Amino acid sequence: MFAAYAARLDARDPLSALEWGERPEPEPAPDWVRVDVRATALNHHDLWSLRGVGLAEKQLPMILGCDAAGVDEDGNEVVVHAVVGDPHWRGDETLDPRRSLLSERHPGTFAQQVAVPRANLLPKPASLSFEEAACLPTSWLTAYRMLFTQSGLRPGDTVLVQGAGGGVSTALVVLGKAAGLRVWVTGRDEAKRTRAVDKLGADAAFESGARLPERVDAVMETVGEATWSHSLKSLRPGGTLVCSGATTGPNPPAELNRIFYLGLRVVGSTMGTRDELAALLRLCDQSGVRPVIDRVLPLSQVKDGLAAMADGDLFGKVVFTVQS
Ligand SMILES: NC(=O)c1ccc[n+]([C@@H]2O[C@H](COP(=O)([O-])OP(=O)(O)OC[C@H]3O[C@@H](n4cnc5c(N)ncnc54)[C@H](OP(=O)(O)O)[C@@H]3O)[C@@H](O)[C@H]2O)c1
Repeated sequence: MFAAYAARLDARDPLSALEWGERPEPEPAPDWVRVDVRATALNHHDLWSLRGVGLAEKQLPMILGCDAAGVDEDGNEVVVHAVVGDPHWRGDETLDPRRSLLSERHPGTFAQQVAVPRANLLPKPASLSFEEAACLPTSWLTAYRMLFTQSGLRPGDTVLVQGAGGGVSTALVVLGKAAGLRVWVTGRDEAKRTRAVDKLGADAAFESGARLPERVDAVMETVGEATWSHSLKSLRPGGTLVCSGATTGPNPPAELNRIFYLGLRVVGSTMGTRDELAALLRLCDQSGVRPVIDRVLPLSQVKDGLAAMADGDLFGKVVFTVQS
């Protein structure tokens, strides 16, 4: 089958580690099923994998991709939950110490077929296209959990989203508005800030690091070192910083004085549970909320999508369509 995979690991030039072509079809283990992938979406995770973050030489070649919407062996249209855990684990799957994401230990979704545990399949609502559904299992699920499970925000509260055009950040803006929050955004690029307000409905957009008109109830962080200090300074006393990523680096100054003196809460968050993905699918189905898609490309153009992400030249998700 056709697939795109990490053939090498290269921290400096991740695109040079990418190859695409024929790979063996997956052999499902007991209680696993094969899914014909119709659409898959790009995540920063795929760039990290090519750089060797979370992937070791001995696992190569590894098919990339966490997100998939497709058709199962019985002909059902499905969305795949990307968190693969210990089958004996009970409770929140994101807290299973043995969990991994597709493309970390098991071959990923940038392929005509992917094998996944049967329990990871959810029905795709008919109202969502395969392209839209493929955006939900990673970026959008992460944003859903950050806002609705981890933040403590209530309708009417104000949230700051760091980053205007990213996959997670565009999801945070759209989901935050759908939930009745006042949503403020920062972005490095004026055109992206304007789009966040005009197209996604953000209430205001500010340059990265700009002083805000007032402090906010919560900040959603995926950028890391470049925005961490601004995130802490932007919170009201008792406010919450939810962090699910560190694109620009994981070790900003901790600013412990600010955290304890103002009683700030710093909450880590990763992906989401199967139940949260089911709720996100229902939300999209019932409310008309749809993922923000920058571009749709055939999987054979995987390198173009990754190059746009590496250059920061995106507003929303890159979706790859897959022919069976
Ligand atoms: N823990 C999890 O489960 C989980 C799930 C999903 C993602 N993540 C992580 O979250 C991060 C974002 O993922 P993504 O897929 O949304 O990536 P993405 O689509 O490439 O978005 C990157 C975002 O970072 C911003 N950014 C990059 N460099 C910046 C800088 N120097 N200053 C300010 N902003 C900067 C961009 O802002 P502009 O809009 O201004 O360009 C953009 O909003 C990644 O590190 C990813 O690994 C974690």
